[in-house]
Amino acid sequence: MALALYPGTFDPFTYGHLDILERALRLFDRVEVTVAVNTSKTPLFTLEERCELIRRCTGHLTGVSVVPFEGLLMEHARRRGAVAQVRGLRQVSDFDYEYRMLFANRRLFPELETVFLMPSEAHLHIHASLVREIHRWGGDVSSFVPPPVLEALQRK
Ligand code: PNS
Repeated sequence: MALALYPGTFDPFTYGHLDILERALRLFDRVEVTVAVNTSKTPLFTLEERCELIRRCTGHLTGVSVVPFEGLLMEHARRRGAVAQVRGLRQVSDFDYEYRMLFANRRLFPELETVFLMPSEAHLHIHASLVREIHRWGGDVSSFVPPPVLEALQRK
């Protein structure tokens, strides 16, 4: 049973993330959404809130688990017995950051493959940071995030 991790901050989980997760499930038996404490960003949602929202957005999918995580991702991947990690790529601008992370991660855990998946065109321009910004100023983000996230944003 091949396990892949889908790591990220997911602040908040968007339709773009859901799209990538669904694609990953076509390739792997199990996908763990690994929800990271991000020390360099102040998240809008707490780690627990982000995990709970992802669980509610992915309840219809088989083979998904949602795990809160703090630490070095490659150590976690090794402990879990993962064969791969999945990352979404939208534009060329994502590539630089991903490229640097991939080679650092590969030094730490050479056996783990990193698989880049692209979302459908409809989701190419969704960024969690833009969702937070639009929402902050009262804009409509209903086309960017699944209903549980929309409701949580409205309560914030
Ligand atoms: O969605 P993001 O914020 O782009 O995800 C980045 C994430 C969480 C995957 C990355 O920051 C990460 O792996 N953090 C865990 C700490 C770690 O292992 N850092 C070394 C990366 S080379």
